[in-house]
Amino acid sequence: MAGAMSATSFPKERIKVLLLENVHSSAEALFAAEGFHLETRPGALQPGELVGALRDVHVLGVRSRTKVPAEALADAKRLLCLGCFCIGTDQVDVAAANRAGVPVFNAPFSNTRSVAELVTAEVVALSRQLGDRSRELHAGTWRKVSTQCHEVRGKTLGIIGYGHIGSQVGVLAEALGMRVLYFDVASKLPMGNNRPVAALGELLEASDFVTLHVPDTAQTRRMVGAVELAKMRAGAYLLNASRGSVVDVPALAEALREGRLAGAAADVFPSEPGAGTEEFHSELQGLPNVLLTPHIGGSTEEAQEAIGREVATALLKFVNAGATTGAVNFPHVEVPPTPGSHRILNVHRNVPGVLGAVNRIVSGLGANIRSQVLSTDATVGYLVMDLEQDVSSEVKKAIAELPTSIRTRILY
Ligand code: NAI
Repeated sequence: MAGAMSATSFPKERIKVLLLENVHSSAEALFAAEGFHLETRPGALQPGELVGALRDVHVLGVRSRTKVPAEALADAKRLLCLGCFCIGTDQVDVAAANRAGVPVFNAPFSNTRSVAELVTAEVVALSRQLGDRSRELHAGTWRKVSTQCHEVRGKTLGIIGYGHIGSQVGVLAEALGMRVLYFDVASKLPMGNNRPVAALGELLEASDFVTLHVPDTAQTRRMVGAVELAKMRAGAYLLNASRGSVVDVPALAEALREGRLAGAAADVFPSEPGAGTEEFHSELQGLPNVLLTPHIGGSTEEAQEAIGREVATALLKFVNAGATTGAVNFPHVEVPPTPGSHRILNVHRNVPGVLGAVNRIVSGLGANIRSQVLSTDATVGYLVMDLEQDVSSEVKKAIAELPTSIRTRILY
């Protein structure tokens, strides 16, 4: 599709934003302040409904329940960009969006603090057997015990995966007076007095609490199994709020049943019920001092608000300036405006000779390039070009008509 698209070169109130699934009002406020035409719908749309609904939409915002397949994108000729107001982007055919020249943005780190706080609370809750005491008292049993209940001050917390969440957990744990060790495959700057260790085994042997904050990769799958659990201190605790795949759950249940571990907290599981209608089953159910939560680590009002702001900001930066930093499916280009210039954006198929063809058009029409940044992935190239002269519609038209062009816009 050699299409010509322009958004900011026409009035802002004609840029149509469609937000589905009760995206947080923090996003609405940003689009409204920009003067865009905003439509919101509380529910998800089915793929069939989406095809019609997207026909005149420039910016689409979804959460996790709206599936956006290739067919919906094929018909969305005006769509400039798509925001997933959540962490994952599995609901969108991001490869098809890439081929259609549509960058997809998400908010991978807006709930970092929420997860870190939950984990920190669980460290104290496990150490005091809070889950069990609460359950007993709800059932009418007053059992006041101090045996095997401990302060966390002075204890050692071992963090596996010292990224956004892991390092925040380290900061909070230190504020509780804990010693903090971490193991990461990448070299990470320690926060406060947190200390790196060279090997996972070293961390397991030295920690009273072990918490996992790694992504789901071939290397992390079942990285804590029977062998690793056997290396942990007697009476230690294991916490997992990362991904269900990283712990061998039957081996963990065994270690808990045998009393080798004093407790565990799990927020994520190898298999999680879909929309909450299926029943949940796990080997960890019914075991003493085991806290089970339904993947709520990042589920707070603050995280939702931050997600709204983060994704809306990314979408606005793309619509207004062509910035694709953070897009999950697109070459990353972010160029500060060159004062007094005119900006053209061009998404094209990544084949040899495109830049030469664009430059021939520009020089043929007597324009002068002030800045030109091209970035490519395997499928598409993304060119952001600032020209000295007022960009005539001829330049844009000629670039848009190149057989390689997918989308072309003049910004200002
Ligand atoms: P991040 O990408 O910032 O950090 C992950 C860290 O793990 C990186 O420092 C990386 O180098 C390290 N790592 C990767 N492979 C490793 C290995 N084999 N051994 C040791 N370290 C390894 O990710 P972030 O944001 O901190 O998230 C961590 C996990 O938390 C992810 O799995 C994510 O899906 C999960 N998460 C869970 C939520 C919940 O609701 N429970 C909410 C948000 C994230």
